[in-house]
Amino acid sequence: MSAYLETTKDVYREAALTPDEGLCCTTTPIWQLPDLDIPNIMLEMNYGCGSTTHPRDLINDPTILYVGVGGGMEVLQFSYFSRRPGAVIGIDPVDEMREACSQNLAIAEQQNAWFKKDFVDIRAGDALDLPIEDNSVDVAAQNCLFNIFDGEHLDKAITEMYRVIKPYGRLVLSDPICEQVMPENLRVDERLRALCLSGAIPMQDYIKRLTDAGFGTIEVRAKRPYRVLDTAHYETDENILIESVEICAIKDPMPADGPCVFTGRTAIYLGNEEIFDDGNGHTMTYNQPIAVCDKTAGNLQALNNPELYISESNNFYDGGGCC
Ligand SMILES: C[S@@+](CC[C@H](N)C(=O)[O-])C[C@H]1O[C@@H](n2cnc3c(N)ncnc32)[C@H](O)[C@@H]1O
Repeated sequence: MSAYLETTKDVYREAALTPDEGLCCTTTPIWQLPDLDIPNIMLEMNYGCGSTTHPRDLINDPTILYVGVGGGMEVLQFSYFSRRPGAVIGIDPVDEMREACSQNLAIAEQQNAWFKKDFVDIRAGDALDLPIEDNSVDVAAQNCLFNIFDGEHLDKAITEMYRVIKPYGRLVLSDPICEQVMPENLRVDERLRALCLSGAIPMQDYIKRLTDAGFGTIEVRAKRPYRVLDTAHYETDENILIESVEICAIKDPMPADGPCVFTGRTAIYLGNEEIFDDGNGHTMTYNQPIAVCDKTAGNLQALNNPELYISESNNFYDGGGCC
């Protein structure tokens, strides 16, 4: 076992025994839903950097796998949408964290008339070797865990998720990313990595690892400033900006011309024809916006057609699309 994986478990053993509000922080507002009352201890133990619970992923009573349970806030939120025994499976290798999560879910049961603790099946297990059958879950999620893994372990964690998700199922991820070069002394610092501060990689690298694993569609749903590793507090010559991203990877078949990666780009046709057809399955009518993936945006831009407006990425893609 790599030393940094052990250090990570030590860090979260401490964070299970003594809630640490400053450990991570969510850049997305916490879901407030009718009749959902999140216990304070879950808010104090919110160790994520974004949200992985999105109502539009959670129709049709899905079976959900959540890896790295923390204080249990997101497994409770997922249970809101799948109210049956064992609908949400939570995996964590740290005994103390599973115990804390279980106690917090018992408090949630007292505070929420609709919630039963047995909606969540908490199991011992590791992201690198999931104790879950192939093709068995509709939605899988992780929040602020995969960024800790080095390249080899990150690829393994992603392929494990791909293995257990049903065809057309979804992997929802929230993680820090960093577009600057992380100084080597910080990158190899086991504790900083475990605290989700120095393992972050560029977003395009993160996405490529997902598409290399086979996910045919990617949605970049949010990208926000998260932390700055500044020269006064960290051993770095320049300030390093870390952002938090929310990404959904869908186990769609891989298109012959490569994955569809949606980053919030839009195309608008401004010509006089009744319909504009790009010959690639995309049709547009005058001044009607359509969301396009980066591949289609690039193909349309290459036409150099002044009657086409193509926006830049805003990294806040929220559904719909060209492909
Ligand atoms: C940064 S916390 C995030 C917790 C939770 N997802 C949240 O958003 O509050 C990381 C979690 O992953 C767990 N963890 C650590 N190493 C793990 C591993 N190898 N496999 C699965 N979970 C792991 C920790 O015990 C902890 O619960």
